[in-house]
Amino acid sequence: MSDATPAAAAAPAVAAAAPAAAEAAAAADQCASAGCGQAAKQSCPTCIQLGITPVARFCSQECFKGAWKEHNIAVHKPVKERLNFVPPPFDYTGDLRPAWVSPRRTVPAHIQKPDYAANGQPQGENQHSIHINSAAEIKGIRAASRLGRQALDLAHAHIRPGITTDEIDRIVHDFIISKDAYPSPLNYRFFPKSCCTSVNEVICHGIPDARPLQDGDIVNVDVTVYYKGYHGDLNETFCVGNVDEKSKELIKTTHDALMAAVAAVQPGVQFRDFGEIITKAVGKSGFSVVRSYCGHGIGSVFHTSPSIPHYARNKAVGACKPGMVFSIEPMINMGTWKDKTWTFDDWTSVTADGKRSAQFEHTVLVTEKGCEVLTARTKDSPPLWWEKKSTEAAAPAATEPAPAAAQ
Ligand code: MF3
Ligand code: CO
Ligand code: CO
Repeated sequence: MSDATPAAAAAPAVAAAAPAAAEAAAAADQCASAGCGQAAKQSCPTCIQLGITPVARFCSQECFKGAWKEHNIAVHKPVKERLNFVPPPFDYTGDLRPAWVSPRRTVPAHIQKPDYAANGQPQGENQHSIHINSAAEIKGIRAASRLGRQALDLAHAHIRPGITTDEIDRIVHDFIISKDAYPSPLNYRFFPKSCCTSVNEVICHGIPDARPLQDGDIVNVDVTVYYKGYHGDLNETFCVGNVDEKSKELIKTTHDALMAAVAAVQPGVQFRDFGEIITKAVGKSGFSVVRSYCGHGIGSVFHTSPSIPHYARNKAVGACKPGMVFSIEPMINMGTWKDKTWTFDDWTSVTADGKRSAQFEHTVLVTEKGCEVLTARTKDSPPLWWEKKSTEAAAPAATEPAPAAAQ
């Protein structure tokens, strides 16, 4: 299946990524020209033509002319790019297509950044030996993991039909930098965004883009935070509006498989055992376990030893020892376990048959007696689909409040 559908052609009016000052000016109906402050009298015709909200308003033709160049580049250009975006021709395995990716977000200079933030290349990930973390290092990874949890819960609270994955990325990015932390994915091996959003047949590493989530989609949001020198990594898969029963079963099966593996973590347990546990938990569902992506050691670097395969009969060498920190992050597919990468972005991993995939991830610390789930859900975490009150979960579609409009 290969095609080139202009996915953005039917896109609704778009909110411009206007700087805060411009938004404030719009709200007060003041001239959008920087520092002018006079009452606005005329609207930018290009904003109106492109369906941009809020429409920029100016006090006079002179101010409009003076501001034009900057306004055009900052506001009109990205919207035009978005509206003109056409997915590249590719042998797509399912229905999902890429959409326009917004410009790279910035991180304030005062925030401590990982080495790859500058050049895309992480150092020190190829350590063969498995690090045993000190009490101070554990504190650091715990703090990063807790921020990650808060960011993921915030993203979760915003999941609804009509929101774009780019908006989810903005919410995650803005939250993380508001805590003086760095969104680990940003520029990691040149990844362009601050979290991964993986929709439907995307297994992992989906790039947030301008595609509005649709009723019935499933979406995984994978958040990693770098804070005071340490990373914490977690992800969950969410339902968008009303989702079919089989997809819901896929999501819960994946969650339960992760939690079965996490429950088994204790000193002496072999890394290869987690794949047996996960495969057993997936059991006779007919779902399959992805083989190309594994859990990983994490701490002062994003990905390091050990590698934790999620499939049975793997050959991972080594065992858990107190002080080790690693992720477990099974990806479970409805159909084939085989994956394929979108070669035009070099990141997005999709199922080879186009059927759906789900994932959950925790960062865990091996303790003397078992483990501490550093990215554990809290009492404030929004409910996963099976945790919702039965009235909500069972309500027929017609009686549910209409989803908010896309913009
Ligand atoms: N968070 C992912 C993981 O669980 C890694 C994403 S790498 C990125 O390991 F560059 F895509 F962000
Ligand atoms: Co991970
Ligand atoms: Co992750």
